Amino acid sequence: MQKDDAKLELPNKEAVELAIKHGTLGQPVIDIQQLGHQGYFTFDPGFMSTASCKSAITFIDGDNGILLHRGYTIADLVQNSSYLELCYLLMNGELPDQTQSDNFSSEIRQHTLVHEQLRNFYSGFPRSSHPMAILCGVVGGLSAFYHDSLNIDNPEHRHIAAMRLIAKMPTIAAMAYKYSIGQPFVYPQNNMSYAENFLHMLFSVPAEPEERPDPILVNAMDRILILHADHEQNASTSTVRTAGSSAANPFACIAAGIAALWGPAHGGANEAVLNMLEEIGSENNIPKYIARAKDKSDPFRLMGFGHRVYKNFDPRAKLMQETCYEVLNHLDLLDDPLFKLAMKLEKIALQDEYFVEKKLYPNVDFYSGIVLRALKIPKSMYTAVFATSRTAGWVANWLEMLGQPPLRITRPRQLYTGHTQRPFVPIDKRT
Ligand code: SDX
Repeated sequence: MQKDDAKLELPNKEAVELAIKHGTLGQPVIDIQQLGHQGYFTFDPGFMSTASCKSAITFIDGDNGILLHRGYTIADLVQNSSYLELCYLLMNGELPDQTQSDNFSSEIRQHTLVHEQLRNFYSGFPRSSHPMAILCGVVGGLSAFYHDSLNIDNPEHRHIAAMRLIAKMPTIAAMAYKYSIGQPFVYPQNNMSYAENFLHMLFSVPAEPEERPDPILVNAMDRILILHADHEQNASTSTVRTAGSSAANPFACIAAGIAALWGPAHGGANEAVLNMLEEIGSENNIPKYIARAKDKSDPFRLMGFGHRVYKNFDPRAKLMQETCYEVLNHLDLLDDPLFKLAMKLEKIALQDEYFVEKKLYPNVDFYSGIVLRALKIPKSMYTAVFATSRTAGWVANWLEMLGQPPLRITRPRQLYTGHTQRPFVPIDKRT
């Protein structure tokens, strides 16, 4: 890594030299690790300008709308790869050859079932539970199993935990859906592809004759999984890294990531976009909602718009829009009113100087809900689908962090604004 220095002038102190480090792409970083010894911390709520780690997995160029996974563009991966192949790439750094791909898929197939006792976890939830609440609980519960591989210092234990998580997430998510509608759980079919199996477990009904999912819809689901798989150090991935930095159980770390993803500012936005489109209802209401999104006194935001990193188009949004068009066309739903409303809303927002000036573009969540709705997945399951996909990115980052010893616990400092030390006041003396 190329090394040059920044000089920091501090009051009543010698200037501090801080190394500037360059990665292979993106902005260089100023290494401030020694700053604490100079009597100062940096202050960066939300980590707007902070690099929390070194990573070689994913790179985003927010100004030019570029997303690379191990150097491959998201467009190339969507058009030429599969979700499982992307999982291999994210975890191992290279695309698999045919043997590696076959072995990886076969190893995933060995872990698609969940322990029969795990099924009992579901009955403790009200039927009306949000699937993400169930995912948090059930995936966290997986940390009570698999005592054969709890040593995170053992690469084989780390590997099998990663494979179990990728393999079981669709099963667990589909079970959450089946539980919510009172239908029996559907076992995975290992003669199906990953995306096909996911749709099978979601929609197959024992009483109905076995029908394989529509290949066009399977392809759409595989694209959706590819588009959500990883995205640098986003809130949920950073959460997984933080939990993993204390050497916590891998299943518990992923449960923490699921919790962070659930928020409407993050992975919960896809469900919020559908709610927003349904609330807007018709194109005549668009100006009113655009005005609300611009009104600082109104907490309403245009869901599916804006991004911490992308200040240009989110390349995933364009690919998701294409998938949306293909699926709706295949299902003869191009007149879908919500799809037309979404496109109109996007067009109007992108012509509005507020959105242009603040560089607010549609993100991955803006169209994903419309595709998922066309696949007959209920709104409440949208973020569960996102979590299923993002498990690949979470485990890849967890493996990368644990593979870069020494493991250092994440423990930020603060700007303290509370009381200075003061004497205790007995209760009878308090006014
Ligand atoms: C995901 O990090 C990732 O990579 C996330 C993700 C991934 O793959 O992991 O890409 C997935 O989470 C996508 C984002 C999904 N969330 C939404 O669509 C929710 C709506 N968008 C936002 O709330 C917001 O844009 C964020 C949370 C996405 C980004 O927030 P930032 O970077 O902290 O930006 P900000 O809130 O400081 O906003 C900057 C300005 C503010 O105005 P000012 O205070 O400068 O006047 O833009 C405004 C905001 O009010 N703004 C919006 C807006 N988003 C930002 N105004 C209206 N509608 C919006 N959607």
